[in-house]
Amino acid sequence: MKNFWNKLNKPFFALAPMEDVTDTAFRQVVASIGKPDVFFTEFANVDGIFSAGEKKVFPRLKFTSKEHPIVAQIWGAKLENFTKAARLIAEMGFDGIDINMGCPQKSVIKQKACSALINYPEKAKEIFLAVKRGAGDLPVSIKTRIGFDKIQTEEWIGFLLELEPAVLTVHGRTVKEQSEGLAHWDEIGKVVKMRDKLKSKTLIMGNGDVASLDNAREKCQQYGVDGVMIGRGVFHNPWVFNPEVDLNKVTIKDRLKVLEKHLQLFEKSWQGEKDFNILKKFFKAYIRDFDGASELRTKLMEVNNPQEVHNLLQGDALQRTKQL
Ligand SMILES: Cc1cc2nc3c(=O)[nH]c(=O)nc-3n(C[C@H](O)[C@H](O)[C@H](O)COP(=O)(O)O)c2cc1C
Repeated sequence: MKNFWNKLNKPFFALAPMEDVTDTAFRQVVASIGKPDVFFTEFANVDGIFSAGEKKVFPRLKFTSKEHPIVAQIWGAKLENFTKAARLIAEMGFDGIDINMGCPQKSVIKQKACSALINYPEKAKEIFLAVKRGAGDLPVSIKTRIGFDKIQTEEWIGFLLELEPAVLTVHGRTVKEQSEGLAHWDEIGKVVKMRDKLKSKTLIMGNGDVASLDNAREKCQQYGVDGVMIGRGVFHNPWVFNPEVDLNKVTIKDRLKVLEKHLQLFEKSWQGEKDFNILKKFFKAYIRDFDGASELRTKLMEVNNPQEVHNLLQGDALQRTKQL
């Protein structure tokens, strides 16, 4: 069994899958400034891969050698497409496959997919087995929540543990809670105890509201999880996975340099294929906590292409040099 998860030092830290955020360009940026132990792709629809929607789905599965170990995250409706997609993902050189059983978007719930599976555990099992059939020796993991309308840790997570996925990533909220309130880390701790009681080999990764490596380590100590997944925290601190970087000491020059790098990687990866406006959500991650940051961001929000961003950044840097 080619299970890279078992070779990781514990605790391990992963960058969460985030649609329109964690594409190959951003993952390469993160890999260069503070690499997590594991990357995940944005969720990719298996039915889309094998239909006319192929063009929309395939970019989500694009990755480079700098992003290993990388896990492809999938979702969908048709069992045979899960098996076919798993086979394809294995051929593409991914290190693992993750099944999304947590996305709360109404459009996916309508299709009885992702988090809706919490209400259809037998279907969840069929999907897991279908992915296993195609995955060969790649480890298959599941990312989910602790319940649908209410906390159902014992029934739902108990059910998933019986399937023995390689890893179970638990976002400590119900579907109804979306991203509101605080994640229920006590429930995640309960999952670890359930796993231990079953003497299961499944690794447990906790997820929800963690925004620093120190906090991630505390969570591992307090709740016994094998690893922690960090999502939105990367927007506050793109260096979040680098234990040697003190955010307060990152210079303006370094911040602008990383944004420039992101721009270059975005252009190189997508060559006009992807809407440039997607990049705008990153400006606040890089351009913050220095004099003039807010003004520069306002100007950046008005631009229409990478060259204009580049010109603005160059102009800003020149201005600063003159002020010295
Ligand atoms: C913009 C955005 C996109 C997301 N896309 C995905 C996704 O494609 N697959 C997935 O499993 N979770 C997705 N999530 C959920 C995150 O992976 C994570 O579970 C959630 O943000 C909680 O973790 P955090 O508090 O560290 O952000 C997304 C979250 C955000 C904010």
